Amino acid sequence: MELKDSLYASSSSPLLKVLDGALLDQLPIWMMRQAGRYLPEYRELRGRAGGFLQLCLDPALAAPVTLQPVERFQLDAAILFSDILIVPYALGVKLWFEEGEGPRLEPVADLGTFRAMDDTLDPLRVGAVYETARRVKAKLDAHVALIGFCGAPWTVATYLVAGRGTTDKREALLLAENDPVLFGEIIGRLAAAGAEHLIGQLRAGADAVQIFDTWAGVLDERGFQRWCLEPTQAMVERVRAAIPEARVILFPKGVELSRLERLARACKPQAISLDASVDRVKARMLLSPLTALQGNLDPETLVKGGDALDREVDAICDDFRGVRHIFNLGHGILPQTPIANVERMIARVRSRR
Ligand code: CP3
Repeated sequence: MELKDSLYASSSSPLLKVLDGALLDQLPIWMMRQAGRYLPEYRELRGRAGGFLQLCLDPALAAPVTLQPVERFQLDAAILFSDILIVPYALGVKLWFEEGEGPRLEPVADLGTFRAMDDTLDPLRVGAVYETARRVKAKLDAHVALIGFCGAPWTVATYLVAGRGTTDKREALLLAENDPVLFGEIIGRLAAAGAEHLIGQLRAGADAVQIFDTWAGVLDERGFQRWCLEPTQAMVERVRAAIPEARVILFPKGVELSRLERLARACKPQAISLDASVDRVKARMLLSPLTALQGNLDPETLVKGGDALDREVDAICDDFRGVRHIFNLGHGILPQTPIANVERMIARVRSRR
């Protein structure tokens, strides 16, 4: 029942066809955070790069790292190897990665530090990302899509305000509560810079972009409207004002279905990526008339593998049968994931074609 509509004939990529509105028998598959520490070839290059940031900012390394999972597993998409914190870094914020711990930034949490931040991206810093995109694009087969990305303003702000990852996002929540004007300025700056970065990636060859809002789930109703929905919508509108045909995937993690529906109606994304906690039957009912659905295998299920993995892959494919679906995880792949389990999952998904 593949739609051989001329509308979709422009792309030979199954993933792009689904984003453009086609319902395929062939289910496209890729994995969030698919380049990374679970791959020995990543660890090897990472060791040679010196540090994670060096790896992100050197196209001679970031391009091969982007291609590694695609070459190993024949996935339907490559996701540009970079990080959501490259945007604050390109606004002049100091950024480094503590080995074995995670990102550190010089916090932007008061008027002084906010004023010291640039208002446009440093072309020298983001230029490396766009060069990586061009190199990857030149190497990819036409049927493999290239996905660019950035963090949603709220999620980037949780790192920027605290200067590090935190479990409860307390620093950002407190600033939003105590100084909503300043916090609004920070969010606005990140939305504009994020849009600029997505436009840069699309112009350098990305076929679609994904906006990661990993921590949207901690926001209450007012916070969701003000710090997630409105700035994400502003970002998407800015991207589409520059590139009307831009394909956008949203990943608002931990967000309840009624809010996902509001996001889908406001932002009109080509797809919405669902985390593992989402009720698929309800998501199908509420969201599939509005957008394609991506997801939503629990990364822990992929770590465990075995029959339970097969059953879950089948359940996901069955629940989304007949609607536009891109197979993916509900969040990033975990470093301890056995490669054999990834192979097993992909083979299972492909056996259904
Ligand atoms: O998907 C891909 O393969 C592309 C690369 C990618 C990375 N980070 C590489 C990375 C993407 C899309 C991201 C997004 C990202 N970065 C998010 C949102 C998505 C998510 O998973 O929630 C967030 C919150 C970050 C910020 C970040 N970067 C953290 C908190 C950490 C430390 C935790 C960790 O996973 O190590 C990073 C580092 C990071 N980003 C690594 C990779 C491969 C590990 C660095 C290393 O090799 O040591």
